[in-house]
Amino acid sequence: MTTHTDSADKLALRNTLIEGIGGYMTAHSIGVFAELGIADLIKDGVRGSDELAAESNTHEPSLRRLLRTLTAVGLATEPEPGRFGLTAVGSQLRSDSPDSLRAFSRMFCHPILLRAWQGLEHSVTTGERAFDHVYGKDFYTYVAEQGAANKLFNEAMGEESRIAAARLAAGYDFSRAEKIVDLGGGDGTLLAAVLPAHPHLKGIVFDSPGGVAEAPEVLKRAGIEERCEARAGDFFQDIPGDGDLYVIKSVFQDWSDEDSYALLRSCRAQIPASATLLIVGTVMPETSSPENPIMFFTDLNMLVNTGGRERTENEFRTMLEETGFSVERVLLGAAGPLSVIEARPAAAR
Ligand SMILES: C[S@@+](CC[C@H](N)C(=O)[O-])C[C@H]1O[C@@H](n2cnc3c(N)ncnc32)[C@H](O)[C@@H]1O
Repeated sequence: MTTHTDSADKLALRNTLIEGIGGYMTAHSIGVFAELGIADLIKDGVRGSDELAAESNTHEPSLRRLLRTLTAVGLATEPEPGRFGLTAVGSQLRSDSPDSLRAFSRMFCHPILLRAWQGLEHSVTTGERAFDHVYGKDFYTYVAEQGAANKLFNEAMGEESRIAAARLAAGYDFSRAEKIVDLGGGDGTLLAAVLPAHPHLKGIVFDSPGGVAEAPEVLKRAGIEERCEARAGDFFQDIPGDGDLYVIKSVFQDWSDEDSYALLRSCRAQIPASATLLIVGTVMPETSSPENPIMFFTDLNMLVNTGGRERTENEFRTMLEETGFSVERVLLGAAGPLSVIEARPAAAR
């Protein structure tokens, strides 16, 4: 006989699955909300969907349905029928928020990435990058050709980096360093946090021509353009040799083991023997659990888009040791939520 408890449990199980399936609808809804800039229109308080539709040039009854749905998932509030405000979560979609994730949301909900994710089954069945399968070229080559999307990607990475950059700037001992080189440093957000907090440091943001394009503006805004250069190049070929602290944040996840070994060998050959290498990124646990699904989705995102993957502490140690580095310290969560692995070129045997 079916009891009330049985059916309540069944309903809960069913809802958990259906909410999971609806994840793509949530992503699309957040993406449209971010793209239309609705959070900027309600930043000063609750407003009617009629005013919001007029100002965003949208269809009022449909916008209202979007806002009700975003209220249901915790981004907005609807204190009176048809009037909407922002929650703290939704406020992160304001362009003027210091914690803004608007570009990040627009990028990850961008048709380029959503279409690549439609190739997930291809990746899972073949192990190949879905991105290349869908677009006929690799992620960074493709994105570099898209002016607006390239700029959006750089801005999105900068937004994603802000908390980790601030924590690194406050928590890591930079006193012995003189010149810090941020390899794959994107728009320079990391050095724009570190250098103002450590006035003795000089810096170089090093990235591909497309990756570094926004850096001069970010460095200028941080007031560090006199002591920090934005330099374009290929870190597999020509790493600046005049630094003493090399940071490489959220980069190895982009690359296969073969490419990651090549990148570490390039670092080992070109950085001074006395330099320190700081890898900042996710360090995966040995087994998965429901505690932090984001890192597992990021890992899957790399399978789809770049052919890279997240790695465990042991995997990082092995890669570093096999490419001529010795691991000095592993500071788990030190650039929360990211970890810091400190390594040095091992003495030649
Ligand atoms: C995931 S993003 C991380 C950016 C930045 N470090 C951060 O954490 O926000 C990876 C970066 O690596 C850069 N990159 C990719 N291939 C590169 C190459 N061959 N040489 C230099 N940079 C490269 C990309 O342009 C991009 O900025």
